[in-house]
Amino acid sequence: MAPYFSFLRGVLGTLSKDLGIDLGTSFTRILSPEKGVLVHEPSAVAINIRTQQLLAVGRDAEDMMGKNPPHISVHHPLQKGVISDFESTEKMLKVFIDQAHRELASLMPRPRVVIGVPLETTEVERKAIEDAVFSAGARQVNLVENPILCAIGANMDISESSGILVVDTGGGKTEIAVISLAGVVAWKSLPIAGDELNKNIVQYARDCFNLLIGERHAEHVKREIGSVLETHENPSMAMRGRDLLSGLPKEIRVNERQIHEAIQRSIAMIIENVKSTLEVTPPELVADIYERGIVLTGGGSLLRGLAALLSSEAQIPVRVAEDPILCAVQGAGTLLGNALLLKDITLPSSSDTRMR
Ligand SMILES: Nc1ncnc2c1ncn2[C@@H]1O[C@H](COP(=O)(O)OP(=O)(O)OP(=O)(O)O)[C@@H](O)[C@H]1O
Ligand SMILES: [Mg+2]
Repeated sequence: MAPYFSFLRGVLGTLSKDLGIDLGTSFTRILSPEKGVLVHEPSAVAINIRTQQLLAVGRDAEDMMGKNPPHISVHHPLQKGVISDFESTEKMLKVFIDQAHRELASLMPRPRVVIGVPLETTEVERKAIEDAVFSAGARQVNLVENPILCAIGANMDISESSGILVVDTGGGKTEIAVISLAGVVAWKSLPIAGDELNKNIVQYARDCFNLLIGERHAEHVKREIGSVLETHENPSMAMRGRDLLSGLPKEIRVNERQIHEAIQRSIAMIIENVKSTLEVTPPELVADIYERGIVLTGGGSLLRGLAALLSSEAQIPVRVAEDPILCAVQGAGTLLGNALLLKDITLPSSSDTRMR
């Protein structure tokens, strides 16, 4: 039987292409080593709860958010990087994997997949990610710790015995990891990242202006004038919502310093956790990190001034990776071309075999 199965796998392998997947709280990205990024969509689904019919995924679903009638559920099926709605994740991944295969014009969507998993996951949560990828059509799934993918995607050589400190700030979580000899030596994960900053801005608008704004609007404000820099310029923009007292639409002007004030506690928490990770890192590796600097990845690293602030607080050079939001998926793509390293760092499978 074994030769028959290996023959079948060989045939499937030639018909189907390898894929790297970053299943993030905010975005899902899929990359093929040959063709680059094929899918880059919000991790969102819209489902008719009367019929259980999948109405939309990705950007189309995200556009419905906040505008949906009660029988249509529009939501993010992952929270803090972990699957909170298995069925929706599975359906969403299936659509995205099919989309990637259409782009590749491959005959059979049965790919070999490398996918990142958060550091702080239980075995059950890891199995949920693995199962969702299998159910979405993969024939082989390799689970790899997220920060390792981010470090590879940021062009760091993770196999060296010299320490690397990666801080990945995404939508749902910030993962801080010290990597050496292709393994995670010290780490922290905290549920404070881009989504939390949006919530801080919503709360600030409520507390200071009696203004109720949506999280998507907060995200827009954050991207436009969000900053932790102490500059003389103080750009401002309109913030629109509903007046909590009158119930009527209201617009106020908000400036960079006010947004800084709104998010500063969360930023301070991230920085404190980087420092406390360094405190538990073996001294030899701290010396390496001091020399090589800290690398920031994930969408949160695009917040203006974050790298400079972290650098002055931790007294270590900090750089933002070249393509911070794509590091994880690019790392997965690189690993698909390095079988030895992949074998070395793939987490043990929750099922007996990693292939189906
Ligand atoms: N220019 C910017 N300034 C500030 N924040 C930004 C900017 N661009 C993107 N972000 C934030 O980056 C976050 C998304 O980052 P990313 O795509 O890395 O997350 P993810 O991988 O989906 O989530 P996670 O890794 O937490 O599971 C969002 O919260 C978004 O607000
Ligand atoms: Mg991420």
